[in-house]
Amino acid sequence: MSDQERVAFLRAELARHNEAYFTNDAPTIPDAEYDALARELRRLEEEHPELRDEHSVSGTVGAPRASVFDPVEHAVAMLSLDNVFDVEELRTWSDRVAKSLEHDAETLRFVVEPKIDGLALSIAYEDGVLVQAATRGDGRVGEDVTENVRTIKNVPTRLGAVGRFEVRGEVFLARDDFIAMNAEQVAAGLKEFANPRNAAAGSLRQKNPAVSAARPLSFLAYQLLDPDGRLEVTYYSETIRQLAEWGFLVAGESRIEEGAAAMIERSDWFQAHRHDLRYDIDGAVIKVDELALRERVGFTSRAPRWAIARKFPPEERTTRLLAIEVSIGRTGRATPFAVLEPVVVAGSTVSMATLHNQDQVAAKDVRPGDLVVVRKAGDVIPEVVGAVSEPGRRRAKKWTFPATCPECGQPLVRRGEESDTYCVNPTCPAQLLEQIVHFASRGALDIEGLGEQRVAQLLAAGLINDVADLFGLRVADLEGLEGWGELSATSLVRELEKAKTAPLSRVLVGLGIRHVGPVAARELARRFSHYDELAGAPLEVLEAVDGIGPVIAQSLYQYVRDEETRERVERFKAAGLTLRESTTASSLAATLAGRAVVVTGAVPGYTREGAEAAIVARGGTSPGSVSKKTYCVVVGEAPGAAKVTKATDLGVPLVAASEFETLLATGTWTITLN
Ligand code: IVH
Repeated sequence: MSDQERVAFLRAELARHNEAYFTNDAPTIPDAEYDALARELRRLEEEHPELRDEHSVSGTVGAPRASVFDPVEHAVAMLSLDNVFDVEELRTWSDRVAKSLEHDAETLRFVVEPKIDGLALSIAYEDGVLVQAATRGDGRVGEDVTENVRTIKNVPTRLGAVGRFEVRGEVFLARDDFIAMNAEQVAAGLKEFANPRNAAAGSLRQKNPAVSAARPLSFLAYQLLDPDGRLEVTYYSETIRQLAEWGFLVAGESRIEEGAAAMIERSDWFQAHRHDLRYDIDGAVIKVDELALRERVGFTSRAPRWAIARKFPPEERTTRLLAIEVSIGRTGRATPFAVLEPVVVAGSTVSMATLHNQDQVAAKDVRPGDLVVVRKAGDVIPEVVGAVSEPGRRRAKKWTFPATCPECGQPLVRRGEESDTYCVNPTCPAQLLEQIVHFASRGALDIEGLGEQRVAQLLAAGLINDVADLFGLRVADLEGLEGWGELSATSLVRELEKAKTAPLSRVLVGLGIRHVGPVAARELARRFSHYDELAGAPLEVLEAVDGIGPVIAQSLYQYVRDEETRERVERFKAAGLTLRESTTASSLAATLAGRAVVVTGAVPGYTREGAEAAIVARGGTSPGSVSKKTYCVVVGEAPGAAKVTKATDLGVPLVAASEFETLLATGTWTITLN
């Protein structure tokens, strides 16, 4: 084995043991052996600088083994913000600032920004290289989360700037990413996160950077510290522009406003549009723009006087609780939920809200007929906060959790310390229904026109009894059913026909294998070209797949060997399912049909093959060299000079890697670099 191979081997081994230890709480080797592997990797990396990799686990071994992160003392304290809660208080603040500056509040220049509900982070760069990232902690001492932050896609690991800089901002999960991440948790049979903030905090403070890397965290920058005074800037807004030029995400909705009236109006705008943003905000932040004025206004011990947070009230609504019901999920979990008189909360109508589990209902003591307060947890998932007392009104009896499954009548079981209750009847019709609905859902086989109602109807009619039965459905079977016509029947059969060539990863998600979510499914489908290959793989081979830890591997290993699974897969094959990750049967829009897109340098978030596959999946080609016929050249980190020069000579447009997503989605881009 060459040193290079040995380094690769050690990194893979350590990553695997890290996952076993930190994510699954199930160490696979004794500590001393682990430490020896880690030492060997560090030694090899020292001897061969060319083999070093900033993402190497060697940077984190040892550290993540400790029970907490290393402390980091902030060179400049990370202050908090003072709050105001309405327009009047905001006006008082701006008057006070203006007065202390002997200025007119109507000519002061402010920046109005979203107040993102995430976690504050400080990232230090030295001579253009990311050297450290720390959480806020108590403001003076935070935690070293450098390796985790390196995995956040929109944190540049390099800046084109010498000297020391510190970039501060907020780590958060965009709402869509939070929803997708929760869907993944559900697909893997795991619990959902309560709200984007908690999910972001949990994801950032992972002891294993690989876990952070798999979470769609974002970072938004709102402060630039320049201790050596290298930048010549008069206004804060100029530093934000600089951050954007360096590749940081900054808030596009921020505005410079002249005068208090305009500033207040913009903060109202944020309140009115809070639900239209991609991320959760709990207020607007207002800052004096001119840096010299900031210095004159100064700080209190905990917050700057030149900035203020205008907090928005959480959107809570009161409505009547009509009933408490229990739903059975595809894994058999019994979840109590509230049926509500419909009410608009945080931008959408809510008629159901989760009550989480038996203990939660008991703690909140909400009863059918009560007036209850409803809000969206982290502005996303509706939940019942509690009952409003209505003196003199007779309440219903205290609600009790049912002893039997509302669907199949079998006893519900609560195991040991777990807070969840399960229906353990493997033939429970509710579980079967949810399994089939999941199989057809967008994240899985994406069979249009096969929602919960229709699945229930097909089950009731005895036409299906398993996901495999779907592929035997004929137009004649469906046409006769209530609410179906020739058109809907034909269209479903066509959808099912299409689903036969669905990529293997989607089939794996659809099967609902415990712990196997979309990310794991994609890794598996990349490694195994056909289902049979995966089903025949020994446990060690499954464990060695990127991103597949022992827990996932074990669950999968058992699943594929199960008699019921084997029968189902045989029936899939007989029906003509390809069970391959074919790229030709792409369901993506052909935005790049017939176009040659050359990629040079690293595109953040993509491997080279991944970027090429993404282009091909949209009907394009991705040749290795630039010619007259090239549609455009995507310029990533450390691009090839020859390709860039050739493109410039031939007049082929150069497109920044930051526009790659736009290019894929629309076939075009906004700014040409040459
Ligand atoms: S400025 C000295 N700007 O809110 C200035 N903070 O409640 C310090 N936050 O700790 C912060 N959005 O975590 C600033 N646009 C924004 C912000 C923001 C969210 C957070 C930040 C801070 C907390 C204070």
